[in-house]
Amino acid sequence: CNSESSGSSGGTSKGKGDKIVVGFSQIGAESGWRTAETDSIKKTLGNDPQFELKFSDAQQKQENQIKALRSFIAQKVDLIALAPVVESGWETVLKEAKNAGIPVILLDRGIKVKDESLYTSFIGSDFITEGENAAKELINLMGKDSKVNIVELQGTVGASAANDRMAGFAKEIKANANYKIIKSQTGDFTRTKGKEVMEAFLKSDGDNIDAVYAHNDDMALGAIQAIEEYGLKPGKDIKVVSVDGIKDIFEAVIAGKSNIIVECNPLLGPQLAQAAKDLKAGKEIERWIKTDEDVFVGKEAAEEALSSRQY
Ligand code: AHR
Repeated sequence: CNSESSGSSGGTSKGKGDKIVVGFSQIGAESGWRTAETDSIKKTLGNDPQFELKFSDAQQKQENQIKALRSFIAQKVDLIALAPVVESGWETVLKEAKNAGIPVILLDRGIKVKDESLYTSFIGSDFITEGENAAKELINLMGKDSKVNIVELQGTVGASAANDRMAGFAKEIKANANYKIIKSQTGDFTRTKGKEVMEAFLKSDGDNIDAVYAHNDDMALGAIQAIEEYGLKPGKDIKVVSVDGIKDIFEAVIAGKSNIIVECNPLLGPQLAQAAKDLKAGKEIERWIKTDEDVFVGKEAAEEALSSRQY
């Protein structure tokens, strides 16, 4: 079941004081990135007296998110923030929000709906570009003339973060005949599953694997462990590229166990707060509020960046 809690005290529904009541349906706590996103939103909205936050953790289940949204609608919140676990299946509940006059802002992951007016804005990254950058940097690192067999650890099945990172990466890899994705399977964005799937890849393809592309750092960290247990050196025998940029992966790059970090910024609290205030003031907000992101390759870049990492 999902858990709901209120992030700050005060009024609980529309009309109670001047607070902007935000209902936030979060996916869960599958990764370091996700925890950083939750913290950013709880801190930003919790520390701002203008807000009251209602937080709900869906524990990876879309049905829990739909329940949470219905509960937010019943409580007449001013704004719904939704980090959708998967892309499809949102039409009905978003129509209910629209009919209730409650704007919906998508956080971090996108959705597929015919009627685009069902949400007001999307705050988050360009996952296709992240996938493209992961491939480009890997080709740069290993050389375009090398023959490279890649295994891919996908994120949650049906999630935009997995679909788009897969598509962007595949597009760039297909353009180079020397590079092949020999295996691709979901590791659910978790360390445990990433390790498990990498173990299976190593069992079937062992010494044939030159690189691993993980849709997030947690799965990469699980894969690194699997590679070491298999008796090979991650970062050397098998190159590692992953998306997110949590502190643990910077440490892995510094230790020579990983190679490329494609950053994806989870600190979305300030942008959400600004968008909510703008909406309250009757201002138009951008359809896609993008975040600034970087790519870090190698030890030196990781060392330079680590001290200022916030997550
Ligand atoms: O949607 C963003 C992805 O979800 C992050 O890359 C991953 O770590 C998280 O679980």
